[in-house]
Amino acid sequence: MALEITPTLAGFGATVAGVDLREPLSRDLTAAIREAWLKYQVLAFPEQPLSLAAFERFAGGMGEFGQDPYFKSMDGHPHVAEVRRDTDETTPIFAETWHSDWSFLATPPSATLLHSRIIPPIGGDTLFANQYAAWQALPDAMKRLLKGKMGIHSARRGYAPGGLYGANDKGRSMAIRYSEDAMATQLHPLVRPHPETGREALFISPGYTIGIEGMPEDEANTLLAELFSYQMQEDFIYRHKWSVDMVLMWDNRCLLHAATGGYDGYARLLHRITIA
Ligand code: SIN
Repeated sequence: MALEITPTLAGFGATVAGVDLREPLSRDLTAAIREAWLKYQVLAFPEQPLSLAAFERFAGGMGEFGQDPYFKSMDGHPHVAEVRRDTDETTPIFAETWHSDWSFLATPPSATLLHSRIIPPIGGDTLFANQYAAWQALPDAMKRLLKGKMGIHSARRGYAPGGLYGANDKGRSMAIRYSEDAMATQLHPLVRPHPETGREALFISPGYTIGIEGMPEDEANTLLAELFSYQMQEDFIYRHKWSVDMVLMWDNRCLLHAATGGYDGYARLLHRITIA
């Protein structure tokens, strides 16, 4: 079976058919999927009714499993977490703030995969913003200003006891475990070469970047606010629409993503695995 790859109209992202992810993949097919993923940054595989074991096998073929510091994993599946929202749930939508997964870690994950189990009839799209394109389109003077500077990343806004998913977050069906550890900080360059493609990408997000090393707080906040609104411009965005039994795999090193709501009164459930 040959892979059938259909690019989206957004300039990145593609849909992949011609492969049955329930079956073990050959080395060549695995390499072809990884190559397409590096080229398109986000791949969607529709109509893949996978067991958890098959989802784990496919994800494990893409790289080593990563860590998920603030999620309780599914029983018997230490690398799988549920992204869930129940029908009657009123908590803020999980992951609605733009971010690159776990960028507050010393070595953030390369990929994240989701497998959709329950998808509402309206809403619940996932947005992606291309940070290769965002970096490339920045004026040269701004590129010069950012080059060599380090962003301060932290999980505190989400996962500290006082954060969005902290002690006051009541009634959430998703198994999030907040912690004081989320107050820690980690430096990463504001612009980073992708370790596999060598292309430079902006590496900041409103979810996790809380400052710029060596820059006064006011100045850093003003610059970051400007960059945050710039990096999520319409021109850089792909809006992903879900169907049940779809696998989505994206590259955290060159994309930001954000969940969206708009499905109150309906349930939504996806299984999630991160790759180191
Ligand atoms: C996530 O960021 O892992 C979840 C994205 C989504 O729910 O659409």
